[in-house]
Amino acid sequence: MNDFAASRWANRDFAKAFRNEADFYVPFRHRVIEITLSLYQHLSGSNPGSKVLDLGCGDGFFISALLAAEERPVTAVLVDGSAGMLDAARQRLAGQGGAIDFRRATFQELLVEDRLDHDFDLVFSSLAIHHLGLEEKTDLYRFIYNHLRPGGQFFNFDAVLSPSEDLEKCYLSLWTTWIRQHPGPAGLDRLLPVPDQYKDNPDNSPDTLKAQLAALEEIGFEAVDCPFKYGIFALFGGRKAVA
Ligand SMILES: C[S@@+](CC[C@H](N)C(=O)[O-])C[C@H]1O[C@@H](n2cnc3c(N)ncnc32)[C@H](O)[C@@H]1O
Repeated sequence: MNDFAASRWANRDFAKAFRNEADFYVPFRHRVIEITLSLYQHLSGSNPGSKVLDLGCGDGFFISALLAAEERPVTAVLVDGSAGMLDAARQRLAGQGGAIDFRRATFQELLVEDRLDHDFDLVFSSLAIHHLGLEEKTDLYRFIYNHLRPGGQFFNFDAVLSPSEDLEKCYLSLWTTWIRQHPGPAGLDRLLPVPDQYKDNPDNSPDTLKAQLAALEEIGFEAVDCPFKYGIFALFGGRKAVA
């Protein structure tokens, strides 16, 4: 089991570096949020409100974009294992409206002690679930399914394992190409090692997209799909059937 306290995310400096640099080294980060919000708004149709859960919310990057785009009243629960990330999320979201509930908890703790509502319209997660093994991912996907209202949607933007080594090599080089094109203020010396650091970091435990889509279908999600993919980065999910 991946122990959050022993992971790099428990280190405030590591978390701060991600906040400062993710816009540059995470490919298509903003585009993925636009796609997610567009799908969510199209598919959630006539819901009068928007009740959202973000698992591994970081500094509230996603909820901030959702609050800016959403015309309906928003209720959001933001969960993260890192107190520093939640502090950054409180700062980012201050004055943006919505009823926001910040909860410090690891996914492992949530699976043991269920403290969340069961009627979310949307559950979102970005770059967080790949720290869990496949069994834990599947347990978390089942947990998510149980916390959606019928018709509610789940989207996960995450790093996935490539189906073969040669493909993985190509995908990592696509990532490097992206970084070369987006050096940001940190510069290439700092950012170019990120793909290798990702591969070498024992906190990361990505599984293939195929295995995760199969797990979602097995749990009961419908319309399971991957609306966006760039190399190892995939946006995928499904929705809870309307009974
Ligand atoms: C790469 S950051 C992504 C943050 C945010 N979702 C974004 O895309 O900007 C991963 C986040 O997941 C959180 N995280 C990682 N493993 C976790 C776990 N097991 N339980 C709860 N949070 C976790 C980290 O603290 C961190 O804020």
